[in-house]
Amino acid sequence: MGIPQQLEARLREAARVVLPDADTAGLLVRPCADKRFGDYQTSGLMPLAKARGLDPRKLAAEVCAKLDVRDLCDEVTAAGQGFINFRLKPAALVPVFEAAARGEHLFFDKATVPRTVVVDYSSPNVAKPMHVGHIRSTIIGDSIARILRLLGHRVITDNHIGDWGTQFGMLLLGWKRYLNPAALESDPIAEMERVYKLVNAECEKDPATLQAARAELVKLQRGDPENRRLWEQMVTLSRREFDRLYARLDVQFDYTLGESFYNPRLEPLVNEFVARGIARESEGAIVVFFDEPADAELRNYPLIIRKSDGAFNYATTDLATLVYRIETWRPDEIIYVTDARQKLHFAQVFAAFRRFMPEARVRLAHVWFGTILGEDGKPFRTRAGDTVKLADLLDEAEERALKIVTEKNPSLPEAQRREIARVVGIGAVKYADLMQNRETDYVFRWDKLLALDGNTAPYLQYAYTRIASIFRKGQVAQIEPRLVFEAPEELALAKHMLNFGLVLENAANEYRPNFICNFLYELAVRFSAFYENCPVLQAPEPLRLSRLTLCHLAAQILKTGLGVLGIRTLEQM
Ligand code: ARG
Repeated sequence: MGIPQQLEARLREAARVVLPDADTAGLLVRPCADKRFGDYQTSGLMPLAKARGLDPRKLAAEVCAKLDVRDLCDEVTAAGQGFINFRLKPAALVPVFEAAARGEHLFFDKATVPRTVVVDYSSPNVAKPMHVGHIRSTIIGDSIARILRLLGHRVITDNHIGDWGTQFGMLLLGWKRYLNPAALESDPIAEMERVYKLVNAECEKDPATLQAARAELVKLQRGDPENRRLWEQMVTLSRREFDRLYARLDVQFDYTLGESFYNPRLEPLVNEFVARGIARESEGAIVVFFDEPADAELRNYPLIIRKSDGAFNYATTDLATLVYRIETWRPDEIIYVTDARQKLHFAQVFAAFRRFMPEARVRLAHVWFGTILGEDGKPFRTRAGDTVKLADLLDEAEERALKIVTEKNPSLPEAQRREIARVVGIGAVKYADLMQNRETDYVFRWDKLLALDGNTAPYLQYAYTRIASIFRKGQVAQIEPRLVFEAPEELALAKHMLNFGLVLENAANEYRPNFICNFLYELAVRFSAFYENCPVLQAPEPLRLSRLTLCHLAAQILKTGLGVLGIRTLEQM
């Protein structure tokens, strides 16, 4: 157990002595924002006091008196309106760091009870380029999956691609009428998008075209071999393009069960909704009405699960998907990562599912995010006003990074410069996205996200390479861990590392990778302060070994932390 976790356990014990009946689950120990007060703090006694009509300061003082943390802290004080502050004893850090340096832990614990978590993310649509919303979903979803895996959970990633729906009527018609095979060869998604747009525009003017597109769709749905074959080709071509992007982004999925996978399940599902009285007919459609008190917020938002023309929709598929996932993987939790526009959709789907399977214990989370804005404050577009394509964005990131790398290191061989630029460029794009509070929109600025100082991926990657170069220069292969604290910067750096586990847990619980970004940035800042004030290789023993230990662990945390953001580190930049 880490030091903050131990403090928390002891605090709860003491609180139970003073208030035997209290629920201490909400008693948390968190790092102090202002280190003048201490290293850690709890504010959790105040609500306990309030609920009982007690004086919070008195309660804090009483709990403090019962608190035995002499082995960990120099100082524990009740303060302010009922806080307790803890200041760590440097000696308490020594065994923790020595164990970490021996590779026994990296300041976090694996889950004692691993959970099974399905993460549904990326999920682009066939025959359409991935847009900015899919980029964010891919980057954020991948990071959430990596964080949960690091913490020892069983994670199943499932790419719910849009490979079914009414758009295939127009796509098939466009394919048959307008397809340019050479264009399809060189850029399949662009060509499919082109013919789709052509037919779509025509449909608006010409009812006969609309009719023809509908007929193609019906043929596909009835299993017409020709249309089926073309559809399969569209899916295959699109997936090949998506896979190329995933490879560039270093993103893998355990499953890619597209919407079409659930087709055979839709009709029986809707029938059962009706048979069990959860859905009913309304104006020819089959609809779930939310009239129970628990679903009051959805009262005015009934969910159609079969349209009046008999077609099933996005929501029907999501319900079938949910049931399938529960039956197949028995997850404790399912996480959906999409943009904010789908909030209502998931609220409806989750509520309908709860009525259908009230016994299911699964936690359902819609992890939503805002939009990326251009420097003009409007949704991010190309200069020509088109939506930005992920492939182009990554190309530009790598190009810009290559320029910077070449300026800094003109003598490195080109292949190496390109490899560095790739890691730095892709890392910068991912980090710029992950460092944001995902629910707010953010402005995309090339020079900011590629800056070598400030809260950016290149800054953190650079901090890592700096440490790597210390070990290269000193020709240090292995170190025998020793810990002595002399300068305040050493202690400040070490204390920060202790919180890595807390940060990982919080990021996992709230689906917020930005907590990790902030933590790593702070780590790099403290490392800089340490490195400027404390010579490492030149220091006399045992200081040299101690400082090398700190360097080694800071590098490990940077690498692991960037790793769960899906960002790689380099030995040299
Ligand atoms: N394909 C959808 C879109 O592009 C996203 C799917 C999200 N996942 C889900 N299970 N609905 O908007």
